[in-house]
Amino acid sequence: MSGLNKRTVIAAVMAVMMVYGTGCVESDKEQKAAVSDQQTAVKDQEAAVQEQEAAVIIYTEEELGLRKVTLYTEETVVPDRGVYSAEDPGTSQTVERAFDNSPPVIPHGISDFLPVTRENNMCIGCHMPDVAEDMGAVAIPKSHLVNLRTGEDLKGELSGSRFNCLLCHAPQAEIPPLVKNSFQGGFRDETGRSRSNLMETLNEGASIE
Ligand code: HEC
Ligand code: HEC
Repeated sequence: MSGLNKRTVIAAVMAVMMVYGTGCVESDKEQKAAVSDQQTAVKDQEAAVQEQEAAVIIYTEEELGLRKVTLYTEETVVPDRGVYSAEDPGTSQTVERAFDNSPPVIPHGISDFLPVTRENNMCIGCHMPDVAEDMGAVAIPKSHLVNLRTGEDLKGELSGSRFNCLLCHAPQAEIPPLVKNSFQGGFRDETGRSRSNLMETLNEGASIE
């Protein structure tokens, strides 16, 4: 190695050391600042936890549930079963639908028509389209006379999946709600409040070849 080159190398090494040295000082300062930042953050957190602890509300077992009595016995619990409509079909008033194409609730009494069995489904006796008009009943809609899985038109026959009406249609009773229900159903148009049109809207937005 020549003399010149050796000097250049030494200068370079020194330069690196200087940079490295000041770097150390800088990072030392930074580290100290970071540590003190961290300490402040921990203190802030501790203060927040203390504040939270002061604000904790203790609920008793009785206050926890919707029922306002002890949760450990059923003895004092008498559920409000409400009073179901006992009106005969033809004398009751249909109830506005909950939302567009929702299953309408049953406005009339049903105790005379239960149980619904394979051999005896009295609902059909009044609601099938061919008899409904004569009975003054609302006719079972087209959607119930189609196999919705395959789209097959059952040519006036009720789909097996619709046989047990009570799976979807429920009788109504006046029971004060435990929690206020603020749900508001949407309707495409005003007729949707009292009629369904599922078969016309079912494929809305889907393109079918
Ligand atoms: C004797 C005939 C008859 C029988 C049986 C009958 N219904 Fe009805 N149903 C009616 C009539 C009529 C109405 C219209 C309301 C009225 O006039 O009371 C009605 C209304 C309804 C409605 C409301 C429709 C709407 O547009 O809001 C539903 C749902 C319903 N019935 C379901 C049933 C189910 C489920 C059964 C069997 C458990 C049943 N019905 C048995 C005659 C009957
Ligand atoms: C799987 C759920 C389901 C079952 C089971 C079912 N329905 Fe429905 N029903 C609906 C829904 C959802 C609607 C509203 C949308 C539509 O028309 O399909 C409806 C609508 C109706 C309507 C109103 C028709 C109109 O023009 O507005 C009547 C009446 C009705 N159903 C009677 C019955 C009867 C009677 C049975 C039993 C033989 C039955 N449904 C079984 C879900 C059901």
